[in-house]
Amino acid sequence: MGAAKERTLSIIKPDATRRNLTGKINSKFEDGGLKIVGQKRLQLTQTQAEKFYEVHKERPFFGDLVKFMVSGPVVVQVLEGPDAVAANRKIMGATNPANADAGTIRKEFAESIEANSVHGSDSLDNAKREINFFFAETEIVA
Ligand code: CMP
Repeated sequence: MGAAKERTLSIIKPDATRRNLTGKINSKFEDGGLKIVGQKRLQLTQTQAEKFYEVHKERPFFGDLVKFMVSGPVVVQVLEGPDAVAANRKIMGATNPANADAGTIRKEFAESIEANSVHGSDSLDNAKREINFFFAETEIVA
């Protein structure tokens, strides 16, 4: 029996869109067995960024995180595949690029723990919440 098909939310962050890395990052997802079934480029508002990262609002880095996430365009994406949440986390690498494995997106492209090129949902429950935050069901086409 194969792994269950899942969907997860990915965000290509402003440090990566600024350096025109969307295609290279998308190749990592596709080469890793994930299919991009929804995708759009957006300029987040302050309110949207604060709401999206609400779970981190008591953290000392919250203000800087929100400021960074509105500093330029992002690409929000729905990735689909077997064990998509875990598969995407493996492809991204550790949050801090200093700890990321060779070949991961963050090892190759991230500039710092803040400007770490991509966000990915950390659980299936959060994936559902985060996908609903950005996408209507009609915008996801497998
Ligand atoms: P992300 O997966 O988008 O979720 C929260 C983000 O906060 C995280 O990636 C990091 O980019 C950012 N961040 C900034 N500073 C820190 C920190 N000290 N610890 C954890 N996350 C941080």
